[in-house]
Amino acid sequence: MVVFCSPAKINLSLYILGKRDDGYHNLFSLFQLVDLCDTITISSASADQLLIDHPTFQPSSDNLCYKALKLFKKSTNVKKSYSIHLEKKIPIGGGLGGGSSNAATVLYALNQLNNQLLNPLQLLALAKKLGADVPLFLVGSTVVGVGRGDVCFPMSKINLDECWIALSPLVVNTADVFAEVRHEDLQYRRAIDISSDIQAGNWGENDLEQAALRKFPELASMKKELLDCGFNKVFLSGSGGSFVCLGQHHRIPVGIKLIEARRFKKIKVYCG
Ligand code: C5P
Repeated sequence: MVVFCSPAKINLSLYILGKRDDGYHNLFSLFQLVDLCDTITISSASADQLLIDHPTFQPSSDNLCYKALKLFKKSTNVKKSYSIHLEKKIPIGGGLGGGSSNAATVLYALNQLNNQLLNPLQLLALAKKLGADVPLFLVGSTVVGVGRGDVCFPMSKINLDECWIALSPLVVNTADVFAEVRHEDLQYRRAIDISSDIQAGNWGENDLEQAALRKFPELASMKKELLDCGFNKVFLSGSGGSFVCLGQHHRIPVGIKLIEARRFKKIKVYCG
């Protein structure tokens, strides 16, 4: 039996560079893994099974853990069966990459349990097949992703002293937000300029934010309320519905309409 943490990610910056022929968008994004984690326990079993500890999110063949298990077995010809137990803490549809992280963790864990049958590049190739956000979780804690976000480069550790995450109760569908993006939402910056900004610690741009705020007006009022708390910067993580808040606030936003205290958390970078 092996137990792994499956951390959430936030996007410290997300720029859309253009639309691709395959329906995806070319991105330039800075991802940071954070200390908000699901737990995945994998053990040998007589048949493959997925168990999930969550009040509403239940196992299905669409689940990325299950898809990762099937893909790993098919690609390696491993015949053994596994039981995967997922304890869900990362909110679903919150722009925090929970499902993608789970898939990456299952691939990594199965490879460990099978004497590293696949080398890191082969593992990354499988991760890409499962989703654009899956590879980053195999690359490092601070990662730049380009292409669909799946061509990933590890970056040196960053300092996130005062970083908070505010979770909304919304379940946001990533494809819907990308579909809502308009020409005027984009900044069309050159990759080299984005890269300089990122290295200088100028984060907080998200080209998906306007589309998400148009689609979900609740997010626009939540952002305003968070800014009223005095943070230096408040921006959406990925396609939402979670906000990243940088800097100190002058009051705990317990009274904020859309946020209960438990949905507001100070986070640290993930060092696992
Ligand atoms: O790859 P994944 O299933 O995570 O992507 C979900 C959806 O988000 C895609 O089907 C696509 O509509 C959109 N997407 C995109 N460009 C990206 C990543 C995701 O348009 N780089």
